[in-house]
Amino acid sequence: MKGIVLAGGTGSRLFPLTKITNKHLLPIYDNPMIYYPIQTLVDAGIHDILLVTGGRNSGDFLRLLANGKEFGLKHLNYAYQEGEGGIADALALAEHFADGDKICVILGDNILEKPVADAARAFEKQERGARILLKEVPDAERFGVAEMDGDRIVSIEEKPKKPKSNYAVTGIYMYDGTVFDKVKELVPSGRGELEITDVNNAYIREGTMTYSFVDGWWTDAGTFESLLRATNLVAQSATPEQRAKAAED
Ligand code: DAU
Repeated sequence: MKGIVLAGGTGSRLFPLTKITNKHLLPIYDNPMIYYPIQTLVDAGIHDILLVTGGRNSGDFLRLLANGKEFGLKHLNYAYQEGEGGIADALALAEHFADGDKICVILGDNILEKPVADAARAFEKQERGARILLKEVPDAERFGVAEMDGDRIVSIEEKPKKPKSNYAVTGIYMYDGTVFDKVKELVPSGRGELEITDVNNAYIREGTMTYSFVDGWWTDAGTFESLLRATNLVAQSATPEQRAKAAED
């Protein structure tokens, strides 16, 4: 399975922090934000990775990550998103890279405590379709929310005012090769973006969507509150050695 990290967009909710840099280059405790989703893919055994970014500071990713040596990678692929047409618009740029293979997509501002290797293994065995990762949260209205009927996902609503469950759809998505055909069918949402939730609903309609639950904590980091939360969660889970090293540096 190939991996795709989506790190485009304006990061407008973190303005002025994002006035002169890309959101995913901001620090989360002792590392730039972008390190965490890349590490999540690598920990899931995924070594063929594409990073999609955009904006004025995209060159900084190359300087920071180079060929991915820090993560034990030999090579890292890059794509550039013109404008910020939404998560699915950024994903569309990965079609050539994916080349019909299964992919694991992770949003550049999603940080997890534990590996997603079990879900990745389950998806490898899945003949076709998609797999998403759900997490029970107290503030579901901030996310895509899964409407459940027993243990089946019936639909996903993007940031509903009245969520039909407490299950947030996290920013880790596993897709088969048909995802790019589904993206081509999308029309921009009310906020003018191609929504990943519409891609997921296409799989649900097709009857090929499965899910796993996230182990341990999960957070995004795209608002001031969640950026602070992410930093605190990462700091609290750091080993004594990591904390000592961060203090030394
Ligand atoms: O964090 C999980 C949530 O992420 C999901 O529950 C939602 O269903 C999903 O829509 C998304 O919601 P957000 O409103 O938090 O998405 P945001 O616009 O903050 O974008 C998340 C990441 O996606 C961002 O860090 C980089 C990437 N992105 C986003 C846009 C709009 C791109 O690469 N290009 C883009 O144009």
